[in-house]
Amino acid sequence: MNHRFVRCLKCEFVPDGAVGESRNALGPDPERALTEARYPLDKKGERIQSRKREAHVVQTWVVNFANAFKQAQLALMDSLRTSRESAVREALGLVEDQDPIGLGSGSTVELLVDKMAEQGFLNRRFVVASRATQLKLMSYGVAAFDLYSNLRPELTFDGADKVDPSLNLIKGGGAALLAERLLAERTRSYIIVVDDQKLVPDVLMYPIPVEIEPISYQNLVYELRGMGLTFDVRIGSGKNGPLVTDNGNWVIDVQVGSSGIEAGELRDVLKRLTGVVDVGVFSGLATSVYVGGEGGVKVMHR
Ligand code: 5RP
Repeated sequence: MNHRFVRCLKCEFVPDGAVGESRNALGPDPERALTEARYPLDKKGERIQSRKREAHVVQTWVVNFANAFKQAQLALMDSLRTSRESAVREALGLVEDQDPIGLGSGSTVELLVDKMAEQGFLNRRFVVASRATQLKLMSYGVAAFDLYSNLRPELTFDGADKVDPSLNLIKGGGAALLAERLLAERTRSYIIVVDDQKLVPDVLMYPIPVEIEPISYQNLVYELRGMGLTFDVRIGSGKNGPLVTDNGNWVIDVQVGSSGIEAGELRDVLKRLTGVVDVGVFSGLATSVYVGGEGGVKVMHR
């Protein structure tokens, strides 16, 4: 069968010039075969004509594009998961007989818990930074300690949203920034695990999560606008209205941009505002960052 025609049939479009040489390939009723190829049947069995057909072609193209995009996204997520898994495995090499161990919050931490379970590391005490991590441990029958306990972990694992070369972190994508900082401050080694997509030249170029007391909202709108900063209130999912943290507070995501201010300095400036509970810029806290990427795992040390 003529190659050009086969291709055209596949894409449901028959160019006029293809008619002559392809005629033999069309069977006993070439006109009908051509009409059928040019105007395929729609779902209801009607011939798709002119504009309707064009719309159909566009629709098919959009669906194909969306599918290809989804496939690419899934492939990217797969590769990020593989990168993170290798970083998690490498970081777990630090586990010896430390007890208790601290655990931050987020999907990386949940992956860490799964890998710890596989390696038989769940037979000790854990201090956790969120109810989500507590629930994850509970799924393995492990009861965790929260920050009301006086336990001080020797080793704590956590994820991060962004990491820069000075080991400044953005934390708070999961709205657990206050507890994560408290945990980081009472641990000897604070180990961060990320994939290499989270490495950035400057964390302040990305929105900074800030946990605030809801009653201070209007004051903070005034103060932050006065400083030339813009922000969005983070909206919860599965409910209407603002996200409410484990501590009953709200989170606003503040855009700082290229103001020239340093990460630690920015944290201090925002922290001084009445009603700000914590700022998701962590400077000088990470002991090491394990970064998973296609080329393997890189470890950055303070
Ligand atoms: C939660 C956090 C998380 O560590 C951060 O959002 C990274 O999450 P994930 O591991 O799901 O990418 O700061 O407050």
